[in-house]
Formats: sequence, C-alpha cells, structure tokens
Amino acid sequence: MSQTPEIPPSAVPAPTRLPQYTKAEQDEILGGGADPFGVGAVGLTWLPKEEHFGVEYDGRLLAHAGLLRLPVGIGAARTEVVGVGGVAVAPDVRGRGLARLVLAAALDHARTTGPRHALLFCRPPLVPLYERLGWHALDEQVLVEQPGDRLVSMPLRTMVTPLHDDAVWPPGPVRLFSLPM
Ligand SMILES: CC(C)(COP(=O)(O)OP(=O)(O)OC[C@H]1O[C@@H](n2cnc3c(N)ncnc32)[C@H](O)[C@@H]1OP(=O)(O)O)[C@@H](O)C(=O)NCCC(=O)NCCS
Repeated sequence: MSQTPEIPPSAVPAPTRLPQYTKAEQDEILGGGADPFGVGAVGLTWLPKEEHFGVEYDGRLLAHAGLLRLPVGIGAARTEVVGVGGVAVAPDVRGRGLARLVLAAALDHARTTGPRHALLFCRPPLVPLYERLGWHALDEQVLVEQPGDRLVSMPLRTMVTPLHDDAVWPPGPVRLFSLPM
C-alpha cells in the first residue's frame, strides 16, 4: 500500500459520490486482509451497498461509506430505513475525521431519499465513536434475514440516527425484511 503524504488542513478533501465500489476499492482502503471489518466471527451474510461515497486524496481512495434502502418492521409499523455499511478509513489516516466527513456526505444524500432514519450495525467497541457522530444504540432485539429462510438475532450492536429534525425512532422490536447490510 502506498504511503499517503500528510494532508494539509487547508486541503481536507471533499467527499464525492463514487461511480463504483468494488473489492479492489475496498482493498485500496483497508488492504486485502481476510476480515477487515472484524465481523467474520459472527458468520452472517451481508448485502452489498447500492450507493457509495468516498474521500480521495492524491489519487488514492482513503475512506468510504455505503448506503442501501431496506424494508424494516419497528413494533407494528412497517417502514424503510437507509442502511449504512462498509464504513472504512485507511489505517494510516484514521483519527483525522475522515469517517465523520464521509458519513456526513452519505447522510446528506440519505436525507433526500425518503426514509426517516439511517441504521447501521457495528462491533461494540465502535459504539462510542458512532455516538460521537450523533447515532444511538438500540436496546431492542433486531432480527435479520439470512440465507435458507432463516431469521436470526443480530449479534452486533444496532445504531440509528434521524435523517429529519422531527424523526423519532418508534418503540418495539426491529425486524429487517432483508439480509443485513
Ligand atoms: C471505524 C473507522 C471507520 C473510524 O474512522 P476514523 O477516520 O478514524 O474516524 P474519525 O476520525 O472520523 O472519528 C470520528 C469521531 O469519533 C471520535 N472517536 C474515535 N474513537 C472514539 C472512541 N473510542 N470513543 C469516542 N469517540 C471516538 C473521534 O474523535 C471523532 O469525533 P470528532 O470528529 O468529534 O473528534 C476506522 O477505524 C476503520 O475503518 N476501521 C476498520 C473498519 C471498520 O471497523 N469499520 C466500521 C464498520 S461499522
């Protein structure tokens, strides 16, 4: 992996919408390790994301966040959320606000798409980071679909954030009518 020159504060790159996000682009950010998100142990099948946002600097992709609209049940209500996934920042440029930057761009777009909330799954150590970015963790059980018509309880933490000022997450158990993203 090439080394990134120090990014001058005056040149913090603006996130852009990416025309594609393949395994090659993910490897460019995270390297080609077997389990770069650290979630392999949960053994889940995930959906690819449909819309992609990235931060590029000096010809190199440094950060990514992906979006995918998903049908969801919350209590008795059925609605849609914007699923957020594949949040990734290259190891040598972490801690410089690039996750904040790329997520803000992705959520700005998500606000134009209709659903009232965004939802993501993360490992427990990342909960404080996402809380810092305005997300909150759900305590309710979250069921997600898996291949073979299986419905499983999500072992990772589920976090949500409102996409509109008046959006309030309804009470009740949550069920994705899809694979997780
Ligand atoms: C998780 C990851 C995306 C974070 O990227 P990053 O660029 O280092 O994050 P940022 O620098 O934008 O930090 C975001 C905010 O969280 C804060 N933060 C970071 N670690 C924190 C912690 N342990 N507790 C509380 N806040 C924390 C930062 O200070 C920052 O807030 P600020 O802008 O107000 O200072 C990166 O570590 C990564 O790619 N990890 C591997 C892939 C992965 O696990 N992705 C997550 C999938 S859910």
